[in-house]
Amino acid sequence: MKNIVDSIAASRDITLDQLKTLLAATDDEAVNYLFSRALETCRSVYGNAVFMRGLIELSNHCKNDCLYCGIRRSHTSVTRYRLTKEQVLECCSTGHGLGFRTFVLQGGEDGWYTDAVMVDIVASIRSQYSDCAITLSLGERSRESYQRLFDAGANRYLLRHETANAAHYASLHPAEMSFDNRMRCLQELKEIGYQVGCGFMVGSPGQTPETLFDDLQFIRCFEPQMVGIGPFIPASGTPFENEPAGSVETTLRLLAIIRLMNPRVLLPATTALGTMHPRGRERGILAGANVVMPNLSPKDHRKDYALYDNKLCTGDEAAECRVCLDRRIRTTGSQLVVDRGDYRK
Ligand code: 5AD
Ligand code: FES
Repeated sequence: MKNIVDSIAASRDITLDQLKTLLAATDDEAVNYLFSRALETCRSVYGNAVFMRGLIELSNHCKNDCLYCGIRRSHTSVTRYRLTKEQVLECCSTGHGLGFRTFVLQGGEDGWYTDAVMVDIVASIRSQYSDCAITLSLGERSRESYQRLFDAGANRYLLRHETANAAHYASLHPAEMSFDNRMRCLQELKEIGYQVGCGFMVGSPGQTPETLFDDLQFIRCFEPQMVGIGPFIPASGTPFENEPAGSVETTLRLLAIIRLMNPRVLLPATTALGTMHPRGRERGILAGANVVMPNLSPKDHRKDYALYDNKLCTGDEAAECRVCLDRRIRTTGSQLVVDRGDYRK
């Protein structure tokens, strides 16, 4: 087992057999070796810094109907909201005061946020916060749209690939969504010059060691600057509401493997991981993660951006999350820093 970990670290690659062995391992000592090698790899690039990104949940309107998602179009009992430019700027102002130097504008695919509307929001943030990175996570748009938003001042884009296996992708999404279009978007974002984040849920229905192997190989070849992974958590009112949640242990192992294969990647310890285990995010950091993304959204809308059930921090003020995370992260020997947290080449 330890020789497998050493071989992944040395080759920055993994075989399907090695992945299967690591996922099935029951030897605690070997699993801890995986985590400690990943932590050491992360610290060799980024030291003990953990970067924070302020998440601003722009809109929970969505034209898509992904089978796993709590804000899918068909979920009619969701109270829908949209943030105005003024509300977004207010979130940024609070966040900047708390030490955030990256703002992540995330939302469903909501046609209300046309290029003109988004360019105005992005350009306003850019002009007021020249020391901050602007990350967008607005789903699939045209190349022209991505280019306009980049020109307005956006630096990064998060678009999880969800699964690198086309058949698996088709089983998680309605027929009108296409794997090829998702891949087209990721490629174009990269060509335009964004720092790009892809990612997937761990334990999504139909996921197998083989599809995970496809994910790891896709990430290795695509070389994203960021990779977001967290456990699948069933959302009530969705077709997957009775499916089992993804495992925290598997998520931690995959975080560590991704770190060993991609030493420089920015890797969040996700809110979903924190939702599934009381020390999930801390354990993520100890397995090689180096980013946290606390919520900066207005408190009265947080509960409505419920991609899955029992989401963490939906009742807390941004300041409470900042203090709570600071304390939690110190227990790992790492520390939250006031920094944009750019990818280190
Ligand atoms: N459980 C965990 N993660 C989810 N996401 C959407 N629905 C769920 C769920 N039920 C993730 C998707 C999406 C990201 C914004 O949130 O991977 O890309
Ligand atoms: Fe939100 Fe702990 S991170 S309260």
